[in-house]
Amino acid sequence: MGLATALGFARRGIPVVGYELRAEVRRDLARGRTSIHEPGIVPLLRGGLASGRFRVVDSWADLVRTADILFLCLPTPRRSDGRIDLRPMLRGVRELGHALREVTEPRLVVVKSTVVPGTTEERIRPLLERTSHRRAPSVTVAANPEFLAEGSMVKDVLEPERIVLGVSHPADARKLRRVYRAFPAPVIVLPPTGAELVKYASNAFLALKVGFVNEVARLAEAVGADVDPVAAAVGLDSRIGQKFLSAGPGFGGSCFEKDVRALIARSHDLGLKPRMLEALVPSNDDQTRHAFDLVRRAMGIVQGRRIAVLGLAFKAGTDDVRESRALPLVRLARSAGASVRVHDPVALENFRRAWSQSGGPGGQGVRFCTTVAEAVEGADAAVIPAGWPEYTPFPTAWSTRMRHPLVVDLRRALPRSMRMRPDLRWVGLGVGSVRDGAPGSASLPRRKPRRRRGSR
Ligand SMILES: NC(=O)c1ccc[n+]([C@@H]2O[C@H](COP(=O)([O-])OP(=O)(O)OC[C@H]3O[C@@H](n4cnc5c(N)ncnc54)[C@H](O)[C@@H]3O)[C@@H](O)[C@H]2O)c1
Repeated sequence: MGLATALGFARRGIPVVGYELRAEVRRDLARGRTSIHEPGIVPLLRGGLASGRFRVVDSWADLVRTADILFLCLPTPRRSDGRIDLRPMLRGVRELGHALREVTEPRLVVVKSTVVPGTTEERIRPLLERTSHRRAPSVTVAANPEFLAEGSMVKDVLEPERIVLGVSHPADARKLRRVYRAFPAPVIVLPPTGAELVKYASNAFLALKVGFVNEVARLAEAVGADVDPVAAAVGLDSRIGQKFLSAGPGFGGSCFEKDVRALIARSHDLGLKPRMLEALVPSNDDQTRHAFDLVRRAMGIVQGRRIAVLGLAFKAGTDDVRESRALPLVRLARSAGASVRVHDPVALENFRRAWSQSGGPGGQGVRFCTTVAEAVEGADAAVIPAGWPEYTPFPTAWSTRMRHPLVVDLRRALPRSMRMRPDLRWVGLGVGSVRDGAPGSASLPRRKPRRRRGSR
């Protein structure tokens, strides 16, 4: 998030200096390289460096000497109790505070990371004042949450839909408005706590939307409907909207579950009972189990069979595997006794690391494949949790390699025209008519329709 934000500012004409803890990352960035897979990020980085508007420095001290507004984009990962782990953020704030002692000019510190409502005012500002020995108006603190999404970061930072400023001093609002003048988006100015809440409310709502359409997908399967045209028709209501009504194996990514859990924990601390939020993560976990159940029912027998999992990132377009549903799906397949081959166009190495760190049951029996051909070789089913366009042609060169050419498409990524292909058996999450069957069968046995009384 920090890199994309910095490069977005630089592209819009604002000079940016960036600091990052890991020396190898700083070195790479200074040379125009990044290991992050994000469409358009490398040209943006190189453009920023070439224009001289983006450069990387080696310490907080260098940073505070040069920059008068300091955006904190530090990680706020999830703790096991659902709260955010503020340690990396507080460590950064401490380092920044010490560096701030060495300069005398006024500085504005802006929390861009996602922090639960109250954090900027209750935790970050007091720590910064203690460590820097400075306070307002010499050093002030604001919140400015970021709404970019992985996979479309570059577009999102250059064309944000809104800019939310959480400020305690009118002068800070003026400074930040000047920075954001270059961006064509409405600016909303709130106190820091309100700005922090906007971020959590937004992510929780998006997660609710995904969770909701996933439950509709389960209904669609049960009643014999197709979730996509249903969701499209629902989304034509402008009060609802089309976006995020795409069913899948459950939401993943670094933010949704973390933010929902943190908001629940914060609500509990405040004596509130957020029933809707509390239902979200269990519903999402149900959806992943449901996705695997679809695989199991389509295959008939899983024990001793081979499953190819195509698409390991939490969604297509990114190499991020944090909270990717591919992880529990592979674990469920292993627990059910299948051997698994996995493939992803860009996230294979990240997945390999996450898999070995997760150390869940069935750690063996997973093969990491650099080609789809290798992954589907001898497979009894190919499961698609992330709909990379690379998979959608699903050529006969792949289907003929499979022992049973069954594709369980958890994103309905294959175009409709391909779903009836004679060399494939296609099963889509959220698409009715899927009933228990055996692998390789030309069509799945349908349940006999129940006779209604009076009908013939
Ligand atoms: N990833 C997203 O799509 C996204 C979107 C909006 C908001 N956010 C929020 O942005 C924040 C950062 O998320 P992220 O996904 O970019 O995290 P990340 O872990 O990918 O990146 C954080 C970076 O900060 C560096 N860092 C850690 N401690 C440091 C220190 N003391 N000094 C200097 N650098 C340090 C790390 O090395 C890492 O490169 C989080 O609060 C997250 O919730 C993320």
